[in-house]
Amino acid sequence: MLHKLEYFTHMKSITVNNLIFDEYLSKEEIAAHVADVAERINTDYEGREPLFICVLNGAFMYASDLLKHITLPAEITFVRLKSYEGTATTGKVNMLIPLQTSIVDRDIIIIEDIVDTGLTMHGFIQHLKEGGARSVEITSFLFKPDSLQFADATPKYIGKSIPTKFVLGYGLDYDEKGRNLDSLYILHPNN
Ligand code: IMP
Ligand code: MG
Repeated sequence: MLHKLEYFTHMKSITVNNLIFDEYLSKEEIAAHVADVAERINTDYEGREPLFICVLNGAFMYASDLLKHITLPAEITFVRLKSYEGTATTGKVNMLIPLQTSIVDRDIIIIEDIVDTGLTMHGFIQHLKEGGARSVEITSFLFKPDSLQFADATPKYIGKSIPTKFVLGYGLDYDEKGRNLDSLYILHPNN
């Protein structure tokens, strides 16, 4: 169930599965953050041919927008990861859709929607390094620094750092809903 409501001229809110969310980043603000990240990557990776790995499902929209601004001879491939809290110490990550491209001697840039505790990225980075990647960096559209539990999961290229609150839209879901929204929404405080 997805309704769009407009309260005031500036404040846009929606309800998703009976929870209220307020607009947090407009599509124009998102576009500016994405272009800024792409510019930094283009500069830092000049002369190299990075392999981008998009982490499904959440990062599909960010990856699509980001890659349009990348001027390097880049490649992109996709994985789907599932992390398990129970194995937090080893950081084991299951691949529901495994890597289809060789990572040996490649400069890898992982594309994530959001880094929260960092568990998922912690496990995935380990996997890529053991698999022979030359270098591994993360770009995450969003980062919750106050939630981070694994320092090696800190993204080098961040669209925006946000407080530890639940967000949806622009690829991110609440119970699989809301991924299609073109702005980012944050959980309303009075739910
Ligand atoms: P982490 O392993 O704790 O860093 O987070 C893993 C995944 O949790 C992310 O890739 C997202 O899919 C999901 N996640 C974390 N915070 C949010 C949020 O605020 N909204 C939607 N999904 C989130
Ligand atoms: Mg994700």
